[in-house]
Amino acid sequence: MTSFSSNFLAIFCIVLLVFIFFSKSNAQLNSNFYSTTCPNVSNIIQNAIIKALQSDARIGASLLRLHFHDCFVNGCDASVLLDNNATTNIISEKDARPNANSLRGFNVVDNIKVVVENSCPGVVSCADILALAAQSSVSLAGGPSWNVLLGRRDSKTANQKGANTSIPSPIESINNIIAKFSAVGLNTTDLVALSGAHTFGRAQCGLFRERLYNFSGTGKPDPTLSTTYLAKLMQICPQNGSFTTLVNLDLTTQDKFDNNYFTNLQNQNGLLQSDQKLFSGIGAFSNIVNTFRRDQNVFFQNFVVSMIKMGNIRPLIGTNGEIRSDCKRVN
Ligand code: HEM
Ligand SMILES: *[C@@H]1O[C@H](CO)[C@@H](O)[C@H](O)[C@H]1NC(C)=O
Ligand SMILES: *[C@@H]1O[C@H](CO)[C@@H](O)[C@H](O)[C@H]1NC(C)=O
Ligand SMILES: *[C@@H]1O[C@H](CO)[C@@H](O)[C@H](O)[C@H]1NC(C)=O
Ligand SMILES: *[C@@H]1O[C@H](CO)[C@@H](O)[C@H](O)[C@H]1NC(C)=O
Ligand SMILES: *[C@@H]1O[C@H](CO)[C@@H](O)[C@H](O)[C@H]1NC(C)=O
Ligand SMILES: *[C@@H]1O[C@H](CO)[C@@H](O)[C@H](O)[C@H]1NC(C)=O
Repeated sequence: MTSFSSNFLAIFCIVLLVFIFFSKSNAQLNSNFYSTTCPNVSNIIQNAIIKALQSDARIGASLLRLHFHDCFVNGCDASVLLDNNATTNIISEKDARPNANSLRGFNVVDNIKVVVENSCPGVVSCADILALAAQSSVSLAGGPSWNVLLGRRDSKTANQKGANTSIPSPIESINNIIAKFSAVGLNTTDLVALSGAHTFGRAQCGLFRERLYNFSGTGKPDPTLSTTYLAKLMQICPQNGSFTTLVNLDLTTQDKFDNNYFTNLQNQNGLLQSDQKLFSGIGAFSNIVNTFRRDQNVFFQNFVVSMIKMGNIRPLIGTNGEIRSDCKRVN
């Protein structure tokens, strides 16, 4: 080989390597990410959720919420799954205000991780498991299906303070909630569509009791709560009753993913203050609520768009982060 052609070859190889390196670290998520390394991953996850639903009708809702609480804190990086660990400096997000005694489904995620590792060891991230589990949970409950974008990697850190400040509270102002969505690139259409996730799952009395007995310190109930629903809620959640008693977020079809959530809002049957405020009062989005109520397909289409947007929040890709072998701890 001439020195010209060997130099050319060497330069060519370097350019190629640089190209591969940068195209990898700048790569977008894509739905074929595991098509050769773990082609059956979404079936494996779906079957595990079908099994879990048999003993816990609520688990799909809980898994969807886990993905949301993951993505809003440092991006969709499974940081929410890390346990406290002094050695690796983890102050767990599980103990953050919006999560403690509230987030659930961690055991199911651990079980999923074990079966996924059995089929494809060291390949599928915990962050992608959360995204796939959220999609399966929605479609198994009668909601839309979509191609989940994949290729996220797992964080080596958690951000408890971020979880305290970035995840919206049910009693804060609508403007604050809009700002928290905006901070992660989600707009008000996304806010209304994603709030439609409250079409299934449960909430604890303690998180909305003020609305029943002492709304904003007035000593009266929230005027945007219908009288029949108020009476029903007062029975389930007495003034001095338990914080943890559960109420269905959707009054009519508790475990089904449909657009009844928006009907509830129109009828002043929204459970959380943050739900009803999307329809009632200053700064409400009643036009969007009405649109999603009128046509379930429009809601589903918007929900899918917004879920993909949420799933794209600051993922770790390329060589950043790691593929955890146990979702609860860093490798
Ligand atoms: C808009 C701001 C939001 C607020 C203030 C909010 C607040 C809450 C609260 C207080 C609960 C009840 C927790 C408990 O009782 O322990 C809850 C449950 C739930 N949230 Fe949200 N949420 C919001 C947005 C979302 C989003 C964007 C999603 C997903 C896309 C979501 C999915 C769920 C689900 C599925 C449940 C039921 C979980 C279960 O039964 O385990 N939420 N939410
Ligand atoms: C894919 O996974 C499902 C559920 O675990 C299993 O029934 C099926 O046989 C698997 N298919 C392949 C090709 O591995
Ligand atoms: C987050 O909030 C919880 C509960 O209010 C509090 O105990 C914890 O110290 C907070 N964590 C940080 C890092 O601010
Ligand atoms: C929100 O973003 C979507 C694109 O993801 C866009 O179609 C929609 O019009 C936006 N809504 C608002 C209110 O800006
Ligand atoms: C209602 O809330 C206000 C302000 O938080 C408080 O001062 C008042 O004691 C409460 N009233 C009742 C009946 O709990
Ligand atoms: C609830 O407890 C407060 C004092 O903590 C008391 O004043 C009130 O009468 C109780 N309400 C009911 C309905 O028992
Ligand atoms: C802390 O993390 C390390 C590294 O992942 C692990 O070996 C250890 O078992 C963890 N400690 C506890 C108490 O979980």
